[in-house]
This record gives sequence, structure tokens and C-alpha cells, in this order.
Amino acid sequence: MSIAQNTETAARLRCIFCGAAPDCAGQDFRCTACGDLLEFVFPGWISDSPAFDPAALKSLWLNRRTSRNPLDQSGVWRFRELLPHIPNPEEHVITLREGNTPLYRLPRCARATGVENLHAKHQGMNPTASFKDTGMTVAASSAHQQEFRWVACASTGNTSASMAAYAARGNMHSLVLIPDGKISWGKLSQSLDYGALTCQLRTDFDGCVRILNELVRQRPVYLLNSVNPYRIEGQKTAAIELMEQLAWEPPDHIIVPGGNLGNSSAIGKALLEMRELKLITRLPKLSIIQAHGANPFYRSVREFGGKKLEPMTADTLATAIRIGNPASWKKALRVLQATGGEVEEVSEVEIAAAKAEIGADGIGCEPASAVTLAGLKKLRRSGFVKSGEAVVLILTGHLLKDPDFTIKFHRGDLFAGTGDAAEAVQAKSLQHAPVVLDADLGAVIAAVDAAERNS
Ligand code: F0G
Repeated sequence: MSIAQNTETAARLRCIFCGAAPDCAGQDFRCTACGDLLEFVFPGWISDSPAFDPAALKSLWLNRRTSRNPLDQSGVWRFRELLPHIPNPEEHVITLREGNTPLYRLPRCARATGVENLHAKHQGMNPTASFKDTGMTVAASSAHQQEFRWVACASTGNTSASMAAYAARGNMHSLVLIPDGKISWGKLSQSLDYGALTCQLRTDFDGCVRILNELVRQRPVYLLNSVNPYRIEGQKTAAIELMEQLAWEPPDHIIVPGGNLGNSSAIGKALLEMRELKLITRLPKLSIIQAHGANPFYRSVREFGGKKLEPMTADTLATAIRIGNPASWKKALRVLQATGGEVEEVSEVEIAAAKAEIGADGIGCEPASAVTLAGLKKLRRSGFVKSGEAVVLILTGHLLKDPDFTIKFHRGDLFAGTGDAAEAVQAKSLQHAPVVLDADLGAVIAAVDAAERNS
């Protein structure tokens, strides 16, 4: 079934600032008239027509869950009516069956925050263990369809892991630019195994982006950062799948981490489009949480009313969101305002504590994802989120992405000798340090008894 007069031509590029509508994007995915970002719009959608039936679309998507077609088995391509069309999908779509991620209740976190109806949509359960796969399948497929030999990205580690995997599946070469020393080993090891040319640059993420933007002007390399609007389209599907999991009954709040701000833009875009298509009747408030040490968007909104964004030198142990000059801040601002969401910042200790609390619910996530729970606590204290409201946290990466952080936290080493050591005392009760014992039954029984007394 089609929701557009002609799905083949339904998606159009448009500049988010000046409205210019280029036929195709340049190498850097920036508007040639004003330099701002491009986005996909769907002027062919005929949701106002009496013939358009949102219920039929929902049941089409649901029925695809039982299909054997790889496109239908993907939690992204299952929703292809809302995505740009890739010609000859059998030949060009690169899929690892991404999406299809679980929605979990978080009972302990619910008690700790006083929000009874609290869920986590775990995007870390994607094939390369982060939310990046949902956008990557679409953008990498577009690169394949355009016959690029090389794809490239600057990354804090997850985009690069995802890109390297999809490039390998599509027989393309991939170039990864990552900051030397400030990404987790888990993520670095992924891009090595998937065969990327991995360059660790002696700079930060923002420095990697600068070099990459120059590179794509000089070499025929396809840019796979989230300025690429195909990435945003694929990442929309997390929100569509979430609504389906909630029987199309939107929660009151969705809370996401903010780094380069592509993901919040994508989820917000999906919410607005779903309302336009009458798939949902009201909008959840989309709130964005940043680490205090990497908070340019928070400061933009709180200090400048979103009128400008001052880049900063970012620093946080949540290395995935160690970003000082987020590319998609204007897109994120638009969805923040359109949905009535809030922006918050959280401390390093708040992030570490929240991560352990999500772990204690048997779920786990990487540090950047845990800003969502830490942010929820602050939004509860400010009264923005009320106890009776339904809240969904978007967990963006898997616990095993950054085991170093987790082990240091539980051993009590994470903040030792730092300015956060005093605040970290509050998180002590969440730590479960490993116990080293002689290979002796009595010693193990004593450890169990001691743990039982303390439980
Ligand atoms: N959470 C995780 C685990 C991430 O890897 C990222 C971004 C974010 C949140 C923030 O998402 O940038 O769309 O606002 N990681 C990028 C990367 C920058 O290179 O892997 P965002």
C-alpha cells in the first residue's frame, strides 16, 4: 500500500534554514545556498485524502513481522513507506536485521524516580550494539546505490563501528576518523574487525569532523555522519517502532541523550510525521539530556533561548557524547520546541550512578545512555515530569561497549583523585566490586553470607 501519489519520487531534500530544494545533495550534505543542513520532506504524502487509511498502514507493518523477506525482517525497512526510496532494494539495501529492539519496564528505576510507568527502549540491542545501525542501514544503502567505493565518518566510536559493519556487508571500503585515546576499546575493536581503515587522530571528535569535511571535498568518499539526511530517516524508525510497541498510545515523555543531536532530531521528526499521518493523535514531550562537561546545546537553550550555539571544548567520561559543536543543533531545537520538551544537564557522578541503577534492573547500557535516567531524576525534581506520567528512556548503546567505565566505577576507581571524588561518595551503595578470594569453599560461603546480611 502506498501513502504517496508516487512513492518513487515522494522524498525531497530541503534546506532547514533557507528552504532551498536541491535535486541532490553535495558531498558535505550542506545547502549550497546558505551552508545549513538538509532534510528529507515528503510533499507527496496525501494523509488528508479520505482514501488514506492509517489503520491499514499499521496492519501492513505488523504483518511484515511474519515475512521472510529481509527487508520486512529489518525493524527499519519494515516501515519503508516513511523512508526515502532506494531503487532496486534487493540489490542495494544493506541490512543486518537492525531495529526490532525491545521495550523494557524498569521496575527499580521506577521506584527510585517515583515514575511508575517507566520504560526503556534499548537501542543497544541492535546488531552492532548501538542505535546507529538504524540510520546506517539507510545511508549505507544509499552509498551503495550511488556506487561509492569509499564511505567515511568521524566518530566517538559507535557510528564508526556501525559504518564499518554495513560497509563490509556492502563490499565498500570504510574510513574511520576517531579521537586518539578518548573512545572505548569495545568500539575501536569493532571497526578493526569489520575491516575499516581506522585513523586515530590526535584531536577530539570536533577536530575529526573538520578533517572529514575537507576530505570529502577532495576525494569521492561518501560521508556517513548524521549530517547525512538518510541517517536521520533511518533513525526515525526507533520512534515508529516504539509507538507500535505501545499500541500507538504515545507516552507523555521520551528522553534521549544529546551529543551531535542527530538522534533527538530523528526521533522528533518521526513524532511530528506520525502525527501528520494520523498514526498518533498527540505528541510526547521529547527531552534532551547532555553531560555537564559537554553541554553546548543545554547552554544554547538556557542561556541564549536557542538563538545561537557557542561551541565548547567538551569533556566527559561518557565519551560517546564528548562533543562540543553539535552539527544538528538547529534540527534538535526545532523538535524540542515543537514537542514542548525540556533540556537538562547532568554531572559525571549522576551519569555513573544512573548507569548502575539501569544495570541493577538487569538491563544495562553504556554511560552516554544513562544520562536519560539521570536527566529524568532532575526533571522529576523540577516538576516537569509528574509521577503519574508515562516515560520512555531511549538507551542508545549496550553495556559492553565500555566495560572499562563499568569496572572502574564498581571498583571505586572512576572518580579517585578527581574533583568529583566527594560527590562520588553518594554512589557508593551502587558499587559491586569484584571480590578476590582463595579457591576455598569456606571463603566463598562467607562472602555469600556477608552479602546476604547486607542485602
Ligand atoms: N548515545 C550514544 C551511545 C552515542 O554513541 C551517541 C553518539 C549519542 C548517544 C548521542 O547521539 O550524536 O545523535 O546526539 N555517538 C556518535 C558517534 C557521535 O560517533 O558514535 P547524537
